[in-house]
Amino acid sequence: MDQNLFNEICLQQLTLSGVHEGESVAVLTRGDERPEYASAFMWAAQKLGAPTFHLRLPPPASVSGAWAVGDSGLGSNPLAVEALKSVDMLVDCTFLLFSPEQFEIQAAGTRILTAVEPASLLARLMPTEELRERVEVGAELLAKAQNMRITSPHGTDVTYRLGVYPTISEYGYTDQPGRWDHWPAAFVFTGGADDGVDGAIVLAPGDVLLPFNTYVQTPVELRIEQGFIRDIRGGGGASGLDADLLRSYIESFDDPRGYGMSHVGWGLDERAHWHGLTQFGGGMGMELRSFYGNVMFSIGPNNELGGPNDTPCHFDIPMRGCSLYLDDELIVDAGELTMPEMRPADRR
Ligand SMILES: [Fe+2]
Repeated sequence: MDQNLFNEICLQQLTLSGVHEGESVAVLTRGDERPEYASAFMWAAQKLGAPTFHLRLPPPASVSGAWAVGDSGLGSNPLAVEALKSVDMLVDCTFLLFSPEQFEIQAAGTRILTAVEPASLLARLMPTEELRERVEVGAELLAKAQNMRITSPHGTDVTYRLGVYPTISEYGYTDQPGRWDHWPAAFVFTGGADDGVDGAIVLAPGDVLLPFNTYVQTPVELRIEQGFIRDIRGGGGASGLDADLLRSYIESFDDPRGYGMSHVGWGLDERAHWHGLTQFGGGMGMELRSFYGNVMFSIGPNNELGGPNDTPCHFDIPMRGCSLYLDDELIVDAGELTMPEMRPADRR
């Protein structure tokens, strides 16, 4: 993207995020990644009268290639952590999520915006106040619920006992001290009790495996008991390639907590395309997490919700066409949100 255009969209972002004169903004990058992001955010911060600096970490020491979450590279760098705790807003262009250092920086009152997706996707899914309001309606509903049930025509029927973990909203910008968000995003989630997820999830062709960044092609049946996956197999007698890949990947971490059930919720952005991976196959998949009416469940760590599981093995799996109930009230009806307040204006 043209740097002037990128500057302008970062200015829109920081304006939405409430950056103003007298605030301070840091931008974090690693190695050779995303120097143009740092330039654009610093330009925008200065435009808004906020002192700013760019903190660049050395490239990661790991060569595993796997998407192992939680290792920020800041663990051995307390000086850098202190610098980031001292600012009002941190723009994280490295993906700190799940790391103890991110939580420490938030606890100091610094709000954090993660921005790692391709610039053209950031532009197309620019957050809006209207979308934030709809996401917050969903978050309020979810925060009150004690029970979630998800069903699908393919055989999914799983229940989550709720009420243990907080509800998190992501709407793509952040203007409150200590709050984290990710640009772009439009979804809500919470987590089931550690031993409180039971049933079956059947992944159907077209459901999305992140971080494989692939669409499921062969059905996958997951049997879940007391918060852990006990069995992964190909569904309906079909060839089980996707089941084999999923199982093989989780096994490679050699960590039983990699089978834990993590966050769960739904997406609200009608501008986000289900087919998005065909356009941005190398990104983080935020468009897929956000597409309108998807029901997303997750496998692995729940420490971002305050839970004990900090395994580096993590999957997010947005599904199409599911129904989701909160305390027996239908919230997502086969991929359509039931409440007018969560729908875009032209779908009410
Ligand atoms: Fe996740």
